[in-house]
Amino acid sequence: MSRHQEAKGKARRVAEITAKRLVISLIAQPVPKSVQKEIDDFYRSSFKEDCEGKKAYHGGSPRKPECELLTKLVLHIAPQDTLDWGLGDGAACMAIVLARRELGFSTRHVSLDPFQYLIAKNVGLIQLQSRGLTGEVDFREDRSEEFLTDAIRNGRKFDFMFIDGDHSAGAKMTDAYLADRATKPGGVIAFHDALFDSTAAAVTWLLNDRKYELIALACEPPWKRAARCARHVRRLGISYARRVIPHLGISIAALRKS
Ligand SMILES: C[S@@+](CC[C@H](N)C(=O)[O-])C[C@H]1O[C@@H](n2cnc3c(N)ncnc32)[C@H](O)[C@@H]1O
Repeated sequence: MSRHQEAKGKARRVAEITAKRLVISLIAQPVPKSVQKEIDDFYRSSFKEDCEGKKAYHGGSPRKPECELLTKLVLHIAPQDTLDWGLGDGAACMAIVLARRELGFSTRHVSLDPFQYLIAKNVGLIQLQSRGLTGEVDFREDRSEEFLTDAIRNGRKFDFMFIDGDHSAGAKMTDAYLADRATKPGGVIAFHDALFDSTAAAVTWLLNDRKYELIALACEPPWKRAARCARHVRRLGISYARRVIPHLGISIAALRKS
């Protein structure tokens, strides 16, 4: 083999995502009735009341099936110490907290959003309050990078994180780097919008460099997953399309720290 061919082979190996995989079949797992009732109610309308009494639509929340999936995932892994950012309209936070309530945890879930008032006009906090969940949430107006840096400095670690904050490339990589350092061994980091370039880069880094295990969220029929791969392969690359996209829960990626 020529030196050129050898170098090409090596580059291909480096670009390849070398993920171990853990399959969690969530397709048949039901969402508890009381949780489903709240999720149905949340998604009845996209317009949510804000702190100025206006009905507003912000977008960006996980879709209803993603929230159901999030609930199932939390119920399955039963994480004690949990964290999500950003709170936004509160859909993901609600799903996590309702699942935690089912599990009977007494500790509070931590939710971050530095722009909860500025951008969301407190819609997320109002949603939590109207569903009687405020007491189960430790809400902080902190940026993820600041909260995580403090957590690392104080030796605080989490069993589960849901990342849905700043989607820029730098912020997402920073989130992944700090999230890794603040996650307990065996803990799970989940990302919304795993089909964004920034999230794909963060997921790839955790799989390749930090040896996370990709959780195959088997929650959709194979044809749907294949269609998603075909749609995104050109932009996100063959390796991500082959190794990661088929195992997403719609656009949620979940990774387990070894
Ligand atoms: C797509 S929305 C989140 C939707 C939310 N997860 C839901 O379920 O409705 C993104 C949120 O991230 C927040 N955000 C932006 N930068 C952030 C940061 N550095 N740390 C934490 N949250 C951030 C924004 O204020 C915004 O509310």
